[in-house]
Amino acid sequence: MSISRDINSDDVDDNEYLMHTYKPWDVTFVRGVGSYLYDDNGNEYLDFLSGIAVTTLGHANKRVVDAITNQVSRLSHVSNLFGNELAGKTAKLIDLLIGGGKVQAGGQVFFANSGAEANECAIKLVRKFMLDRFVVLSAWGSFHGRTLATLHATGQPEKHEPFQPLPDGFNHVSYNDYSELLKLMNGKVGAVFLEPIQGENGVIVPDRGYLKEVEKLCRKYDALLIVDEIQTGLGRTGSWFSFQDEDISPDIVTIAKALGNGMPIGCCWAKKEVASAFKPGDHGSTFGGQPLALSAALATLDELIALEAPKRAKELGEILKSKLQEIDGVKAIRGKGLLIAVEIDGDYANNVYKKALENGLVVNAVRPNAIRLEPPLTISADEIEEGVKRLDLAIKLAHEEVVVA
Ligand SMILES: Cc1ncc(COP(=O)(O)O)c(C=O)c1O
Repeated sequence: MSISRDINSDDVDDNEYLMHTYKPWDVTFVRGVGSYLYDDNGNEYLDFLSGIAVTTLGHANKRVVDAITNQVSRLSHVSNLFGNELAGKTAKLIDLLIGGGKVQAGGQVFFANSGAEANECAIKLVRKFMLDRFVVLSAWGSFHGRTLATLHATGQPEKHEPFQPLPDGFNHVSYNDYSELLKLMNGKVGAVFLEPIQGENGVIVPDRGYLKEVEKLCRKYDALLIVDEIQTGLGRTGSWFSFQDEDISPDIVTIAKALGNGMPIGCCWAKKEVASAFKPGDHGSTFGGQPLALSAALATLDELIALEAPKRAKELGEILKSKLQEIDGVKAIRGKGLLIAVEIDGDYANNVYKKALENGLVVNAVRPNAIRLEPPLTISADEIEEGVKRLDLAIKLAHEEVVVA
């Protein structure tokens, strides 16, 4: 007898048993293969979102599936009170990619379970390393997570409002505005915390040179530079990490999303000098860095390296952009590699998202007038062409409805 088997998911009202932190779902997916998803009615969808930059190697990637399957039958979990075979190896590989893929960067890694936890670790590290210089300056429009500290770092006041009081020690500046940052730099600022491209804010790419200027300012005022690569990292924007395009050397880098290709894992990398502020007992996590999650991360990193992920993202990004330019109603295309936002000629992006779904394409309405595309880096040029056709149709249908209304 199995109680869980006796519960038929079709008869369960999600609304009754799940907290209402998300809008009611339009579709329930039950299976994924490569660039495709399948819903509970057997309908097929091209996935142009990858679970928001997570399943970068596509769904059910064989190497990742094999690694997880082997590991789960060998050893899923030991407490961090003990060592495991995979943590050091995975950290070394991450450090190599932070160094650009050819040389070790010479930092150290803490493994967490999500992006917010990776950022929480970064914020704690600033407090431990910088002592009373604990203020973290982040950007308006940014997104860094949903824990209380990362929520305060997130530069979206409407998200702060219901959760006051938030932890002290956060202040915000306009993104891509070096002069405003200069005005707020003082002896209390311990770190500047930025996304190299603001993903959740609609894929906002700062001017070339902005991050370099921020880095110079951090060095001048002896503050740390934290780069949140949770959405941009691991090849998606055409470099292993987006900060590498600007030739800067951040003190702390946070990574999550694509790291496990769907297995929950994040990490905080820091230069050794900074990382050394943490002593046993300062930080920890029951699940962080457990063998099962690490097996996925290690296989994902191996596969991304074999795929030459940054090069691929760059090439496919060019193909995607050129096809998108042919669509009527597209006002602008933003982004780098396979992190792209398509700005349309009105506030009907949610309608486009719905029409796209009805026509077998998964995208995200990241702003009222912008659609975000983050297909897997394993996608083929033919699949890109097909996805753009479906998006074109969705924009036309959504636009017609807007005009009629
Ligand atoms: C740049 C950035 N930082 C942090 C996060 C938070 O990650 P998580 O949802 O895994 O906590 C996200 C999630 O979208 C993100 O895009």
